[in-house]
Amino acid sequence: MAALNWAVFVSGSGSNLRAILDMHRALNVRLLVTQRKLAYGVKRARRAGVPVWHFDKDKTWNQLDAYLNERGVNAIFLAGFMKILPADFVSKWNRRIINVHPSLLPLFPGVSSIQRSFESEFAMGVTIHEVNEIVDGGKVLIQRQVRKSEKIEEAERLVHLKEHQLVQKVVEAWIPEQM
Ligand code: GRF
Repeated sequence: MAALNWAVFVSGSGSNLRAILDMHRALNVRLLVTQRKLAYGVKRARRAGVPVWHFDKDKTWNQLDAYLNERGVNAIFLAGFMKILPADFVSKWNRRIINVHPSLLPLFPGVSSIQRSFESEFAMGVTIHEVNEIVDGGKVLIQRQVRKSEKIEEAERLVHLKEHQLVQKVVEAWIPEQM
């Protein structure tokens, strides 16, 4: 099977990106995509020698699609990317995009999921899923519960730790059905 060449899409600190970059050298991250030039994830990518594509306001999803193809990207990891992907982009990359989400989906999709699950009667956890046209709605690849600590800061730390473990697991093992 051909190797996966990843593009990681990031808007924030990029701790999940770091988890990916920390992995075995054979893992191929071809590109970092961000709409936030100052995101810490951009620094991490540059330090690791990963090229960065800035999704500026004058750029389009079609341009991004073309660039991903040009760079030989065949899988996309959304690691804290705070921009909704349009349906036609998702359909072009059908079943080749995955996302990490800090709750036990289908509970608490969208934003502030850690806080909402902490304050709820439900368990906390992490989900990695394929991306489809419904926000946080694609097929679940892996899902793990995390202990609900008394303090939200600690609960949040545990969620992020679990994310990093699961991200590495999935990146190592995942074979898209549409290669
Ligand atoms: C993570 O909690 C992820 O689940 C969510 O956004 C956050 C990104 O964190 N989608 P980081 O930038 O990887 O540190």
